[in-house]
Amino acid sequence: MIELKQLTKEYGKGDRVTTALSNLNLSIEKGEIFGVIGHSGAGKSTLIRCINLLERPTSGEVWVDGVNLTSLNTQQLQKERRRIGMIFQHFNLLSSATVYDNIAFPLRIAHTSKETIAAKVNELLALVGLDEHSDKYPAQLSGGQKQRVGIARALASDPEVLLCDEATSALDPQTTDSILKLLLDINKRFNLTIVLITHEMHVIQSICDRVAVIHAGGIVEYGPVTEVFLKPKHVVTREFIRGEASGNELLQQAIHATHLAFSQAVKITFLGETTYGSILSRTVRETGVDFAILQGTISTIKDTPYGQLIVRFEGEQEGIIRTIDKLVQQGLDVEVMA
Ligand SMILES: Nc1ncnc2c1ncn2[C@@H]1O[C@H](COP(=O)(O)OP(=O)(O)O)[C@@H](O)[C@H]1O
Ligand SMILES: [Mg+2]
Repeated sequence: MIELKQLTKEYGKGDRVTTALSNLNLSIEKGEIFGVIGHSGAGKSTLIRCINLLERPTSGEVWVDGVNLTSLNTQQLQKERRRIGMIFQHFNLLSSATVYDNIAFPLRIAHTSKETIAAKVNELLALVGLDEHSDKYPAQLSGGQKQRVGIARALASDPEVLLCDEATSALDPQTTDSILKLLLDINKRFNLTIVLITHEMHVIQSICDRVAVIHAGGIVEYGPVTEVFLKPKHVVTREFIRGEASGNELLQQAIHATHLAFSQAVKITFLGETTYGSILSRTVRETGVDFAILQGTISTIKDTPYGQLIVRFEGEQEGIIRTIDKLVQQGLDVEVMA
C-alpha cells in the first residue's frame, strides 16, 4: 500500500544541513496498523509528512497504492492526497468553525453538494460519537472530543490511508485508550490502512500489527509487534520497553544470589494460548527440577496474550538442561540469562 524507497530528507543548506531521514526504506501493507516509534528528533514527523508530501523528500520515492506521488504535478498530487487523511497531536481544528463545519471543510473544498455533505457529516458524527456536539466550537470540547473531530474530518473524503502524527500524545491515558479503540474500530470497519507515529510503546502494543523503530533518521528494527516487543534487538527498542530485565539491579542480584552448586536463570516467553497453560509446572514435575520465580508479567499485544517469566532453575545441571529443552520443544521461547 505504501512504499518508501531510499527516502532522504535534508533541511537547510550548505554547512547548516540537518539530515532528518537517510536512505530510508519502508513497506506498509493494505489494512494494517503500522506504528513508527522513536525518540524526539528521530525523524518521525518528517517521515509521516513525507508520505503525503506535506514535506518533499530531498531524494527517493513515495508510492501509495501503486502511484508514485513524487512524480506527480501539483494538481495530480492534490487529487491523490484526498485518499490520505491525517490527524495531528494538537488537532489543528478551525477554532472559529463549529464541529459540523470542521468536518464539512474538506468536502466543501472538493465542491461536494450540500445534501451529500450533510449526509456524510452526520454519518461521521455518529461514527466518532459526537452527534450531540455538532454545533459546538472546538474551545467547548475536551481533548479527546477534539481528536474525534480531527478523525471525522480526516475520514470525510473516504481515504484509504490515515496518518496519525502523535495523535494521542496530548491526551491523558484514559482518553488515549478511547481514541486508540476508535482507530482500531475504523481500521476494521473500513479496512483502512493506518500509519501512526508515537514515542509511547503502550500505543504500539495496544493496536499496531507491525512496528518500525526509527533512530537518527533511519529504521533500526522492524517487524511484527509480537517479535519486536518480546525479542527487542536494538538498544533503542529496549529503551522503549519498560521493566527491561538487565537494567534492574534487584533482579540482577536475585539471578546471581544462590548458595546452590548449580542454578540457571532463564527468561521464558509464552505467546498466545500457552500463556494460560501449565507447561512449566508439568515440565519440572517430569524433570525433578525446582524453580524460584524472580519476575513475571502477563499482558496482551493487540489481541494476543503473552507472558514473560524470569525463573531460576535449581537442581542437577543435566536436569536443568533437559527442562529447558522440553520447554523449547513445547513452543516456549527460553532465553538463558547471564
Ligand atoms: N522544518 C525544519 N527545519 C529544520 N530542521 C527540521 C525541521 N523539521 C525537523 N527538523 C529537524 O529534523 C530532525 C527530525 O525532526 P522530526 O521529524 O520533527 O522528529 P520527531 O518527529 O521524531 O521528533 C530534527 O533534528 C529536527 O530538528
Ligand atoms: Mg514529531
